[in-house]
Amino acid sequence: VHSVIFKESKEPSILVAREIAHLIKLKKERNETCVLGLATGSSPIGVYQELVKLHREEGLSFSNVITFNLDEYYPMERSNMQSYHYFMHDHLFNHVDIPPENINIPDGKVSPGNLKAYCIEYENKIKDLGGLDFQLLGIGRTGHIGFNEPGSHLNSRTRSITLDHITRVDAAPDFLGIDNVPRKAITMGIGTVMDAKRIILLGWGNNKAEILRKTIESSINSEVPATYLQEHNNTTFILDEGASSELT
Ligand code: F6R
Repeated sequence: VHSVIFKESKEPSILVAREIAHLIKLKKERNETCVLGLATGSSPIGVYQELVKLHREEGLSFSNVITFNLDEYYPMERSNMQSYHYFMHDHLFNHVDIPPENINIPDGKVSPGNLKAYCIEYENKIKDLGGLDFQLLGIGRTGHIGFNEPGSHLNSRTRSITLDHITRVDAAPDFLGIDNVPRKAITMGIGTVMDAKRIILLGWGNNKAEILRKTIESSINSEVPATYLQEHNNTTFILDEGASSELT
């Protein structure tokens, strides 16, 4: 794992967007699809802004792109403003030319009886496309990537999970109070993420400094699921000064 530190988040967000754009174009030249694993939350917003800009101003086309989002709250209506479905359309999909059928976001409305089969299907869809070419990640204060909370296994796959208390506290402002934050989510597993050919994790701000120190400097352990990334051979952590302030 390499860590690269920038003064603030704007410039590196542009660089990450350019790396993604380069991959999309390379794949298009070869008549191949580009399979992207995407995150929501505040961390990737600058990357999506730049991708939209590249589409508008430089003609970057998403016609060969297939996306898989990491996670969704459960239960959750798509039309709900707090849904990750809403977030992705608002920040990216509504502004680029990705074919709607190429967009995959875990369905927060799947019935409890069908949940297990649904998760296996999500996983198989990624596998049948040859896996994720690129995975974009943020990190939660619990050390989660996706919603793989502490205790998540290295071999975990797409499944339902109970959200950590800290994760629900951090989401509370968006839901106008913790009582409205769902207790569960559907998330890709650690194993799903680790199979990606390239991973970039974004970390901005002081409130991520402590968990990033643990992620980068402690030994691999399930209590900080992001430590599993230490074993991945093509991962870069892109941090700003605040997020890197506790690294030794
Ligand atoms: C979101 C996701 C989460 C977030 C993490 C950080 O799809 O998978 O792991 O990346 O909770 O969230 P922000 O970026 O809002 O600090």
